[in-house]
Amino acid sequence: MTDTTQSYTGSVAEARQDNPMWSGRLAFILAASGSAVGLGNIWKFPYITGENGGGAFVMVYLLCIAAIGLPIMIAEVMIGRRGGRSPINSLRMLTQRDGLSSRWTWVGWMGILSSYLILSFYSVIGGWALSYVGKSAGGAFVGADSEAIGGMFGGLLSDPSNLMLWHSVFMALVIMIVARGLKSGMEKAINILMPLLFLLLLVMVGYALATSEFSHGVEFLFSPDFSKLTTEGVLTALGHAFFTLSLGMGVMMAYGSFLPKNVSIVKTAVTVSVVDTVVALLAGLAIFPLVFANGLEPGAGPGLIFQTLPLAFGQMTGGTLFATLFFFLLVVAAVTSAISLLEPVVEWLEEQKGISRLTGTLIGGLTIWALGILTVLSFNDWADVHPLAFIPAFEGKTFFDIFDYLTANILMPLGGLFIALFVGWFMNKQAVENELSLGHPALQSLLMFVLRFITPVLVLVVFLYNLL
Ligand code: PHE
Repeated sequence: MTDTTQSYTGSVAEARQDNPMWSGRLAFILAASGSAVGLGNIWKFPYITGENGGGAFVMVYLLCIAAIGLPIMIAEVMIGRRGGRSPINSLRMLTQRDGLSSRWTWVGWMGILSSYLILSFYSVIGGWALSYVGKSAGGAFVGADSEAIGGMFGGLLSDPSNLMLWHSVFMALVIMIVARGLKSGMEKAINILMPLLFLLLLVMVGYALATSEFSHGVEFLFSPDFSKLTTEGVLTALGHAFFTLSLGMGVMMAYGSFLPKNVSIVKTAVTVSVVDTVVALLAGLAIFPLVFANGLEPGAGPGLIFQTLPLAFGQMTGGTLFATLFFFLLVVAAVTSAISLLEPVVEWLEEQKGISRLTGTLIGGLTIWALGILTVLSFNDWADVHPLAFIPAFEGKTFFDIFDYLTANILMPLGGLFIALFVGWFMNKQAVENELSLGHPALQSLLMFVLRFITPVLVLVVFLYNLL
């Protein structure tokens, strides 16, 4: 499926000169999938799938992508294109124009808060990936057994100063890129690097195919055992659909503002969602056979990919090169997502009087970096610090766990719920119709029905179930 995207973006690049409108479509697909594909697909999806028992969780996740994520992505892009500004101001403009309550702009503010919290831990995990580029290049995995590989990861986590170092390097990279503003040169680089990441994932799946446990891995991922699914697991799947597609916090709204009017929002949103989902499933297919072939624990938690993939790299020919390349590409994928997290914060700071882009990036970046220290400590010195233990949902949760839970399981679904309600019930009907221009009245009514009823009800039901 990514093949289609590749040839699609390829032909778009060729068509660029004679048809300037196309570049907007290309730019959108690149930016949106750059934001969507990241640590969420390769690091988070496999480990939460492992923690939640596999197949049934994956099924709920896929359902959430299709019935909730995709419609919300369409709605978000629509608001952004219609508003043509940063999320908060797009919402402000649309509500003013249609005489609606200005409270809707709160969705934009909530998005800024989510960006802040997510990036603070995202950067720490991006730092793990960075440190693994170095380990790989130094041949650290060659011939290592699972105990040695596990020891390496444990060693990294237990050393706060080392984690701080890599977290700082990652954040510095992101700050440097955002401070300069996005360059078309980077777009080009991403256009080559992301397909390469996809190819390498295919290589890893190929390797997994050769292990004795491939079918076990496939079964774990795709054959649902609903007795293993908890209500919290359902909420995690819902939250992950938002996290992995970068939804419910204005990122897709911001990117939608530069989508040309004649491009189909629906088709573009489908492309981005499919690419994102395929990458996640490939990561799962590469990892779980290794987990079983090496007698590891699928529910090992956030370290899962760092404890499985190096095993494979250590055994395969050319493993050192592949490992270095893989973790490098993982860093690139993480950086493009991180940019989309920092960008709205900076835009918002810039909108405050007299703050330049550089100052805004430094203020935003450095405060997020500082907040990241709480995540660094969550894996070592403060592993037993559970600051919100008095709230049942946060019992036993470290700062990292809390930031993760609060954003993916609460703030993003809530933002998405409001976005669906806004487009489904409040936004000017004619405007919505013009934006969608599906050409198929039946399809359009279906989408509106989903946005009005299905998506909000599903999100609410999952929420309420977990509350009660
Ligand atoms: N979607 C990104 C990922 O999967 C994370 C992200 C979330 C990026 C929210 C932007 C906004 O890694």
